[in-house]
Amino acid sequence: MLDRLEAQSPDALLALIKMYAADERADKIDLGVGVYRTDDGATPVFRAIKQAEKRLIETQDSKSYLGPEGDSEFVRALMPYIFGAGSDGRADMGGRIAGMQTPGGTGAVRLAVSLAKQAGARRVHMGAPSWPNHVQILADVGLEPVLFDHANADGSANIDALLSVIEGAGQGDVVLLHACCHNPTGVDYSPAEWERIAAALAKSGLLPIIDSAYHGLGDGMEEDVAGLRTVLAAVPEALVAYSCDKNFGMYRDRVGAFYVMAKDGSQLDAIMSNANALARANWSMPPDHGGAAIRIILGDEALVKEWQDELTQMRARLRQVRETLAAADNRVPGLDLAQLADQNGLFAILKLDKDQIAKLRDDHGIYMAGSGRINAAGLTSGNIEKFIDALSDVTAN
Ligand SMILES: Cc1ncc(COP(=O)(O)O)c(C=O)c1O
Repeated sequence: MLDRLEAQSPDALLALIKMYAADERADKIDLGVGVYRTDDGATPVFRAIKQAEKRLIETQDSKSYLGPEGDSEFVRALMPYIFGAGSDGRADMGGRIAGMQTPGGTGAVRLAVSLAKQAGARRVHMGAPSWPNHVQILADVGLEPVLFDHANADGSANIDALLSVIEGAGQGDVVLLHACCHNPTGVDYSPAEWERIAAALAKSGLLPIIDSAYHGLGDGMEEDVAGLRTVLAAVPEALVAYSCDKNFGMYRDRVGAFYVMAKDGSQLDAIMSNANALARANWSMPPDHGGAAIRIILGDEALVKEWQDELTQMRARLRQVRETLAAADNRVPGLDLAQLADQNGLFAILKLDKDQIAKLRDDHGIYMAGSGRINAAGLTSGNIEKFIDALSDVTAN
């Protein structure tokens, strides 16, 4: 039977990682992999996580099963950060929100779209380009992705495209939105645009799924979820997929959460029983370790402060890299580097063609995705000048 399987095309980013590893140039630069890096190029374990893990090892006296919903205290403790102060379970938004732990943001996205499908969804509208796994997950779950352009050429969000999709949507339609730090463009909606989106969603009855994978890496903890909260305050129901893998540096530990805001709190038990059944069939239960460590942080003021301080430093560094690139706009005509200062998070798309991307790799040892997406965190005070010079080299006529 297995000989009927045709080889899948290899993941382009994984192929890039291999090429980068094989490159022997000492000054090579990796702008492909989507993880945060310090100015020394490291992706360290957060100090707060280290301390929480120590405590976890000392105090955890059982590794017995927890159930498909995972660590409920972790899920509850995250809520004030996502939904606002005072949110801690069913007592908020009129008692209309419940959640469960998932294997990373990927698990949360998968659960959200699977639940939407179970509830009758057929099509998912989403801005393109997007995180490539969005379309892959939709295809696997059996939902049709319907794409519109996320960004305009000037680097602003294409709000008109989104609004017309929302206005024209019909029965069984869902819209998938990035809460902040859009992957791969870095182009986010402004607060005023979120207001328009929320008003349009409230009118249309379309179910929003909001994917928050970079909370705290854009403008600030409150700012990065302000749009999400604006939507939730306006619509009757919504699904939220949340990742802790970037903002707690837990990538390989796979920490995420899924939340549902129901029309009425009395519907939550039925909705969550479906989410539980889907989780059970997909992964049975989420891995515990990362969520438990984060639960310890969120329950300790000093550790919260330490976590927030580290996140603030990360955000400031990303802003600094963006500003340095934007300031080099006149050294690399045609790339519109100035736009990067107005965008958020790890990622940006540079308007480079395939030949220029290959030349950056071959002549300069600079590795980036074929789409022109760069991870700004791959740039450091030690390599950013080289990168700007290389850009001006490959874009010179
Ligand atoms: C937009 C978006 N959503 C979700 C995820 C999933 O994150 P995780 O690593 O927690 O599964 C990512 C990760 O890159 C992402 O960029």
